Amino acid sequence: MNILFASQKEKPEFWFPLLQKALPADRLYAWPDTNDGDIDVALVATHPKGTFANLPKLKLIQSMWMGVENIIDDPQVPRGVPVARLIDPGMVAAMGETVIAYVLDWHRHFYCYRQFQNDRTWKRRRQYLASDRTIGLLGLGELGGSIAAKLRAMDFNVAGWSRRPKKLEGVACTTDLDEMLSRSDAVLCLLPLTPETRGILNKDRIHRIRKDGCVINVARGGHLVIPDLLAALDSGHLAHAYLDVFETEPLPAGSPLWSHPGITITPHIAALTEPRTAVGKIAENIERVRRGEAPLHLVDFAAGY
Ligand SMILES: NC(=O)c1ccc[n+]([C@@H]2O[C@H](COP(=O)([O-])OP(=O)(O)OC[C@H]3O[C@@H](n4cnc5c(N)ncnc54)[C@H](OP(=O)(O)O)[C@@H]3O)[C@@H](O)[C@H]2O)c1
Repeated sequence: MNILFASQKEKPEFWFPLLQKALPADRLYAWPDTNDGDIDVALVATHPKGTFANLPKLKLIQSMWMGVENIIDDPQVPRGVPVARLIDPGMVAAMGETVIAYVLDWHRHFYCYRQFQNDRTWKRRRQYLASDRTIGLLGLGELGGSIAAKLRAMDFNVAGWSRRPKKLEGVACTTDLDEMLSRSDAVLCLLPLTPETRGILNKDRIHRIRKDGCVINVARGGHLVIPDLLAALDSGHLAHAYLDVFETEPLPAGSPLWSHPGITITPHIAALTEPRTAVGKIAENIERVRRGEAPLHLVDFAAGY
């Protein structure tokens, strides 16, 4: 097979040695070298404009990221060709670690103690047990499902919202978002960005979260309405917010979010694709195409993810 690597963010030098080892009979090309259009599989993540202009033999578009809105939103992506998401075990593990760090930072009041230290103040906040807290998850997919189990193992109560009804052991699963938010102390967004989910964390929804709670957004910046978040922090309704993703990335130096005392910022690092664990999953899908089988984790264009 001829495999095209097309990304403005992922670096072929990190991927090619691992890909070549996993797929020794296949040939790798890095965009803009498209082997005169003779390409069977495109590996993409923030693909350059025009990537798909002349790939008539394409059999699979394999994302190197878990989020695929860049592919779905590009009208130049050929619609007849299957698009597969990457489910990378290393990325799922990394997201779990990041989210647990944020949840514990809020739950154990470390965001407060950092400020107290700044002010040379010796003061104790009330202690809560994990079982006193409910963590609400927007999205119970590959990431949300794994994180729900990790939070349950730590004795947090977990509520989760998904598009279709779900059953996860120990998790209060619902398709009623308002009901889920009203019982949540901390809310974690792990949704794909679609027309239905854009702006979902707005004033009304944020105010349903219980007082002194936090919002953790590790999905996409477009899910969260920033002026509504700032109002909820400034009024004291929310205790803190953890933001890893932003509508404009990098976050502009002039953004007021940088210096807001109620916000912890990370530069879209909640979970990075880990080529060492991702390549096996990509190779598995390519082997499926070689055998004439349907690839795994196909994108549902109608649902938008
Ligand atoms: N910050 C980072 O570093 C980073 C890294 C990786 C991924 N991400 C983000 O995380 C997102 C989630 O990844 P994933 O692999 O967990 O996705 P996934 O497996 O597709 O799961 C998405 C979940 O969201 C639910 N959902 C989607 N649309 C909905 C709607 N309109 N109403 C209610 N629920 C809805 C789905 O419901 P159903 O279960 O009913 O389908 C599913 O439970 C990605 O799209 C990406 O944007 C961020």
